[in-house]
Amino acid sequence: MSTEFSSIDFLINGEKRSVRVPPMKRLLDVLREDLHLTGAKEGCGEGECGSCSVRLNGELVNSCLVPALQAQGARIQTVEGLALDGELHPLQQAFLHCGGAQCGICTPGMLMAATHLLANNPHPSMAEIREGLAGNLCRCTGFTRIFESVISAAAQSGEERHAR
Ligand code: FES
Ligand code: FES
Repeated sequence: MSTEFSSIDFLINGEKRSVRVPPMKRLLDVLREDLHLTGAKEGCGEGECGSCSVRLNGELVNSCLVPALQAQGARIQTVEGLALDGELHPLQQAFLHCGGAQCGICTPGMLMAATHLLANNPHPSMAEIREGLAGNLCRCTGFTRIFESVISAAAQSGEERHAR
């Protein structure tokens, strides 16, 4: 029995891309296998850990739960789209300086969740940061340094330049 393939077109990190994949292939696998964007990670594969987080039409989604078909015509932002012209996004710089990344497995998802949070709420309270990152799990940092990273980035003014 042959697998049916569909052409899926989308805008990813500002660039038009097209893939030919089974329509129910997970967006996470399309990103990693077909587009070689390996920033999004597979942790649980069940929508529980957030390590596969990307932004889809301005919403934060777990790409392990999104079929490719659902991304047709969508605007997608992945962690690879954060840095601009070789310059790290303020959130990436803050994670670096505050020790918000240790093993790094959760980091791309954390960065996307934090990007989403700051895009909607540039100066969140600690409670809002906790809530905004509640869908993302980290086994290493105890979360404190991640929250401090977000506070540090929010204190800078550059994030709006990078929010796309
Ligand atoms: S791998 Fe997608 S939520 Fe865990
Ligand atoms: S830095 Fe290791 S899981 Fe978060």
